[in-house]
Amino acid sequence: MGSSSLFAIVFLSWVFFISRTNQLQTYESQVLLQLRKHLEFPVPLDIWENYNGDLCNLASTPHMSITCQNNSVSELKIMGDKLGKVSEFYGSAVPNQTLSKSFSIDSFVTTLTRLTSLRVLGLVSLGIWGPLPDKIHRLYSLEVLDMSSNFMFGSIPPQISRLVKLHTLIFDGNFFNDTVPDWLDSLTNLTVLSLKNNRLKGQFPSSICRIMTLTGIALSHNELSGNLPDMSTLSGLHLLDLRENHLDSELPSLPKGLTTGLLSKNSFSGKIPEQFGELYQLQHLDLSNNFLTGTPPDVLFSLPNISYLNLASNKLSGLLPNHLSCGDELGFVDISSNRLVGRLPSCLDTTSNNRIVKFGGNCLSIDTQHQHPESYCKEANMEKGRSRGEAIGRYRSRGCMEQHTSPKIVQDNSTSGISSEFLANARIISQAAKLGSQGSIAGRVFPLEELEEATNNFNQSSFLGEGSIGKLYKGRLENGTYVAVRSLTLLRKYSIRNLKMRLDLLSKLRHPHLVSLLGHCIDGSGQDESTASRVFLVYEYVPNGNFRAHLSGQRKHKPTLSFLIQKNVCTEVYGHMHKQR
Ligand SMILES: *[C@@H]1O[C@H](CO)[C@@H](O)[C@H](O)[C@H]1NC(C)=O
Ligand SMILES: *[C@@H]1O[C@H](CO)[C@@H](O)[C@H](O)[C@H]1NC(C)=O
Ligand SMILES: *[C@@H]1O[C@H](CO)[C@@H](O)[C@H](O)[C@H]1NC(C)=O
Ligand SMILES: *[C@@H]1O[C@H](CO)[C@@H](O)[C@H](O)[C@H]1NC(C)=O
Ligand SMILES: *[C@@H]1O[C@H](CO)[C@@H](O)[C@H](O)[C@H]1NC(C)=O
Ligand SMILES: *[C@@H]1O[C@H](CO)[C@@H](O)[C@H](O)[C@H]1NC(C)=O
Ligand SMILES: *[C@@H]1O[C@H](CO)[C@@H](O)[C@H](O)[C@H]1NC(C)=O
Ligand SMILES: *[C@@H]1O[C@H](CO)[C@@H](O)[C@H](O)[C@H]1NC(C)=O
Repeated sequence: MGSSSLFAIVFLSWVFFISRTNQLQTYESQVLLQLRKHLEFPVPLDIWENYNGDLCNLASTPHMSITCQNNSVSELKIMGDKLGKVSEFYGSAVPNQTLSKSFSIDSFVTTLTRLTSLRVLGLVSLGIWGPLPDKIHRLYSLEVLDMSSNFMFGSIPPQISRLVKLHTLIFDGNFFNDTVPDWLDSLTNLTVLSLKNNRLKGQFPSSICRIMTLTGIALSHNELSGNLPDMSTLSGLHLLDLRENHLDSELPSLPKGLTTGLLSKNSFSGKIPEQFGELYQLQHLDLSNNFLTGTPPDVLFSLPNISYLNLASNKLSGLLPNHLSCGDELGFVDISSNRLVGRLPSCLDTTSNNRIVKFGGNCLSIDTQHQHPESYCKEANMEKGRSRGEAIGRYRSRGCMEQHTSPKIVQDNSTSGISSEFLANARIISQAAKLGSQGSIAGRVFPLEELEEATNNFNQSSFLGEGSIGKLYKGRLENGTYVAVRSLTLLRKYSIRNLKMRLDLLSKLRHPHLVSLLGHCIDGSGQDESTASRVFLVYEYVPNGNFRAHLSGQRKHKPTLSFLIQKNVCTEVYGHMHKQR
C-alpha cells in the first residue's frame, strides 16, 4: 500500500471519527441543555451555560458530574439544594421548595430517556415533583438510580422491574405513598434498596427475601405494618434498616451475615429470638422502642463483633446473670426503660469498663433513684417470680456507680444513644461505594498548631457554622486533606479520662470503611488535666459535599461522613460538654 493511500485512510477515518463524535455529542448535549431547562436552571448546572467544549470533558464538582462512554453520557449526577422535606405536601408545586407549577415530570422523563446509554443516574434534591412516569424503564442500561430528596408521589412504577441491570435503587426522602412493590425480585442483581422516608404503606413484601444479591435494605420512616417475614435466606445482607414503621409481628430470624440491624420504633412483640445469638458478624443492633418481652438472650452481649446494642424502652424483664460476658468490641449498651431486676452484671459496670451503659428506668438494685418506683417494681418482681420461680429483692447501693463516671451519661435513660441514623447511612455508603477494606485506623492525636494552621487560626473565613455541640470550622491539612474541625469546650468537672474513653468508643463504632473521625486534639492536656478546656474533633470533609454525591461511581474522594457533623451524632457521647461560646 502506498504511503498516500495510507494517509488517505488515516485522514478519512479521522474525519469520520470527528464528525461522528460531533454528531453524537451535539444530540446528547442538546438533551442535557433541555434537562437543565426542565430543572429550571439549578445552580450546579450554571457551568453548562456558554460552555462550548465537550460536556463530557467538564470537570466534576460535588454537585454535578458527567461521564461519557462511546461519546454518550453514561453517568449523570446532579445534586441541587432543594431539600426534599416539607411538612405539608399535597402533590402540587410548593413555592421555593419544589420546581414550579409549570414543571412537568412527564416531559422531563421523556427528555431524560433520550440518554439511552445512562448507567448511573443521580438526580438529588432538585425539587422534582409529580408521580414518576412508567417510561423511566426506557433507560434500560441503568445500574444505579438515585432520585432521593425530591417530591415524587404515588406508586413506584412497576415498569422499573424491567431495569434488570439495576443494582442500586434509592428513592429516599420522597412522598411515595403506595405499597412497597412486590415485583422487586425481578431485579435479580439488586444489591442496595433504599426507600427511606417516604409514606409507603402495607406489608413488607416477602418477595424481597428472594433477591439473593441484596446487601442493604433500608425502608425506615415509612408506614409499613404487619408481619416481617423470615429474612434468613438473604445470606449477603449486611444492613437492615426498618426503623420507625408500624411492624407488629414477632422478630423473625435474621440473616447470619448481618452487621447492622436497626428495627427500633416499631411494634415488634414477643421475645428476642435465640437465633440472634448466631449473628456472629453483628456490630450494631437497635431494637429499642418496641414491645419486646422476656429476658434478652445472654449471648447477644457477647457476640464477637457487637459494638452497639440498644434494647431500651421495651418490656424486657427478668435478670441478667452476674457472670454475663460482654464482647470485646461492645462499647455502648442501652437497656434503660425496661423491667429488668436484680444487679447489673459486672461487665456492664461502667466504673471498670470502657463502655457506656444506660440502665435507668428499670427495677435494678443499683442507682435506685433513677429506677422505677418500688410499687411498680414489686409488680415486676412478682411477674418475674412467676416466670422463673425466684424473686429478687431490691437492695440499695446508692451512689456506688457515680464516683468515677459521668453521672449524666450513666443516668440518662433517654433512648437515642448514638444515632442509629449514623450507623444506617454509614452502612449504605460503604456498600454503595464498594470500597475495599482499609482496616480501622485509630484516631490520631493532632497537635493544636496543626489545626490552627489548617484553619488559619480558626479564622472567621473558615467558620462553617455552629451546632448544638460547638463551632465547626473547615480547614486543610498540610497534605491537602480537607477537614472539618469541631471545637468543644470541656466542663472542668469531668475528667480527661472520661473523654478519652468516649473518643475510643467513637472510633470503635466507626466502620472501618468510613473516613469520619480522623482524630482529636485536647488543648491543655499536656501539663495538668484539670486545665483542659477545649477539645477538637477532626473529621474528613468534602467541601460542599453530601454523601449521596459519593454513591456508586465517582471515587475520586473517599465517601465521607460530612453529614455526620450536621446530624450531631456525638451529641449524646459528648453530652457532658458545653458548646463553645
Ligand atoms: C462502543 O461502541 C462500539 C461500536 O459501536 C461497541 O462495539 C461497544 O460495545 C461500545 N462500548 C460500550 C461500552 O458501549
Ligand atoms: C398519594 O399522595 C398524593 C399527593 O399527595 C395524593 O393525591 C394521593 O391521593 C395519595 N395516594 C394515596 C393512595 O394515598
Ligand atoms: C421565595 O424566595 C424568594 C427569594 O428568595 C422570596 O422573595 C420569597 O418571599 C419566597 N417565597 C416564599 C413563599 O417563601
Ligand atoms: C448481574 O451481575 C452479574 C455479575 O456482575 C453480571 O454478569 C450479569 O450480567 C448481571 N445481570 C444483568 C441482568 O445485568
Ligand atoms: C469482626 O469484624 C472484623 C472486621 O470488621 C472481621 O474481619 C471479622 O471477620 C469479624 N468477626 C466475625 C466473627 O465476624
Ligand atoms: C427516665 O425514666 C423515668 C422513670 O421511668 C421516667 O419518668 C423519665 O421520663 C425517663 N426519662 C427519659 C428522658 O426518658
Ligand atoms: C482571616 O483571614 C483573612 C483573609 O485570609 C485575613 O485578611 C484576616 O486578617 C484574618 N483574620 C484574622 C483574625 O486572622
Ligand atoms: C493527610 O493527613 C491525615 C491526618 O494525618 C491523614 O488521615 C490522611 O490520610 C492524609 N491524607 C493523605 C492523602 O495523605
